Amino acid sequence: MKKSTLYIVPPQGIHVAIVMDGNGRWAEMRGLPRSAGHRAGVDVVSRIVHAAPRLGIDTLTLFAFSSNNWQRSPGEVGALFGLLESYFFQEARRAAEHDVRISVIGRRDRLPSALVSAIDAVETATAENSGLHLRIAVDYSARDSMLQAACWMVSATEVTQQEFSRRLGDVTHSPDGSPDVDLLIRTGGEQRLSDFMLWECAYAELHFLDRMWPDFDVADLETAVRDFHARDRRFGSVPVTVATVAIQ
Ligand code: FPP
Repeated sequence: MKKSTLYIVPPQGIHVAIVMDGNGRWAEMRGLPRSAGHRAGVDVVSRIVHAAPRLGIDTLTLFAFSSNNWQRSPGEVGALFGLLESYFFQEARRAAEHDVRISVIGRRDRLPSALVSAIDAVETATAENSGLHLRIAVDYSARDSMLQAACWMVSATEVTQQEFSRRLGDVTHSPDGSPDVDLLIRTGGEQRLSDFMLWECAYAELHFLDRMWPDFDVADLETAVRDFHARDRRFGSVPVTVATVAIQ
């Protein structure tokens, strides 16, 4: 019989967000161009996405390109966009095999048209999938999203936190709204949020590790999830009720 691990997870799956840092340093340490680090990073994404559902993750948001990353060289930006475009077209073709729904959050008006076409293709092809919701942040800035949502608020009569979250979803092309993050992971040794999901991370548990993103593996994700479930999440009040489920 296959060995299974017991985790304590909430009745619904958790939302994990990841800042995939360290690709450039990983490549430079090997005398490779930075783009080789990003390429290796895509392989890690595929492995993590595959493993996420059995770890009780139902939403996974990955920071692929920050609005501040436009300051990088055109060569590096172009390489990153090329990798994203290939990934999205590949996942659009595999939509029937992988039960993953993919959406892209962030601005689209500054992206190359080929990348926007790939985003449209993957979002359409995977829209009916009901497994993991994979959200990729591209040209994303949490502050910009909040600023745009705040502009809408000016003409709104009454605004609840739920409506603001929904509006944040609208401005970042996230039709389900922008769900709260349960666990934020950052690789690469830095311990900061870098303008990622600032509103949604209000009560996120934070998990930082020194490994560079291309070295991150499924065991690291398992450790982060296990560590998350061991934390006492009180949201300013009493502990939340949790249920015990088996993960195959
Ligand atoms: C940060 O590392 C990483 C990025 C800016 C890009 C992350 C993108 C990928 C892993 C590819 C994403 C692909 C998919 C399919 C989602 P860095 O380059 O800033 O590393 P450094 O801090 O070592 O310079």
